[in-house]
Amino acid sequence: MSGRIRKAVFPVAGLGTRFLPATKNTPKEMLPIVDKPLVQYAAEEAIAAGCDELIFVTSSSKRAIIADHFDKNYELEAELERRGKTGLLAMVRGVVPEGVACVYVRQPEALGLGHAVLCAAPVVEGDPFAVLLADDLIDGGARSCLEQMVAVHERHGGSVIAVEEVDPADTEKYGIVQVEAVDERIGRIRGIVEKPRPDEAPSNLAVVGRYILSPRIMQLLRETPRGAGGEIQLTDAIARLLEEEPVYAYRFEGRRYDCGSKLGYLEANVDFALKHPQLGEPFRALLRARCEGGGEVRTPVAAPGMAAGSGRRG
Ligand code: G1P
Repeated sequence: MSGRIRKAVFPVAGLGTRFLPATKNTPKEMLPIVDKPLVQYAAEEAIAAGCDELIFVTSSSKRAIIADHFDKNYELEAELERRGKTGLLAMVRGVVPEGVACVYVRQPEALGLGHAVLCAAPVVEGDPFAVLLADDLIDGGARSCLEQMVAVHERHGGSVIAVEEVDPADTEKYGIVQVEAVDERIGRIRGIVEKPRPDEAPSNLAVVGRYILSPRIMQLLRETPRGAGGEIQLTDAIARLLEEEPVYAYRFEGRRYDCGSKLGYLEANVDFALKHPQLGEPFRALLRARCEGGGEVRTPVAAPGMAAGSGRRG
């Protein structure tokens, strides 16, 4: 099983309670890192890895903000065109590149990650597919995390799950795997358990939010009873899958930001702002001034590359 990965599933139906009140009506995946929502970073990662069908599992409790974000906005485009803002126009039009389709399925009840993935079953059908949890923002450098995983899948077949070492005290926040080494970065998973206590964890190798899964997972999810937290856990279905088929853990190259936590979210904003082509320099100066004594910083009227007049009210 090593077909091309064309479909990517984005579970975006979570309540996002850690970011209330910002997430009262807005999915947490729409929170921006500098100027782009988390879900768009994840979509771009999937597209760069070769996916051309993006499947969003949404909930009825939040308005259709994600569907709107990936849809055309005629009014905005017409206005940008009228004002001659060609760069912004291209940016807005490029949110979904040509040839990429977006599909939306509803998760009728908040029954957990496994249930969210199962909701995509009618769209995923019989193909291996990717799952991306957008609140795990991964900066893979030259090659995104999912691209690296696709390469592993092409070489070894099977399912592939991204992992990283975490502080042994933090195992209760993650799915934790037990592996048999294949090479430096790849291990065959022999056991997986959802959010074990540190004294019960088989290792400190934690699952992060990137998966390439065999279509067999859907049937196993149908048969998976509610587990930890009364939810249908993807981890429990993966535990069954690895008894039938190879499932690999892949230590990706790059840096993960846990944007499901406020500190991780702020850290991502700082690092992405520092790397931002226009903001990087003035933001670095601002941070330096803050750290050196908190004095007032004079920010340039228009940062380099930012046309004056592109202020908040456009
Ligand atoms: C989910 C998975 C968990 C994984 C984590 C990665 O947990 O159930 O196995 O380690 O994502 O972010 P959640 O963060 O939704 O509680």
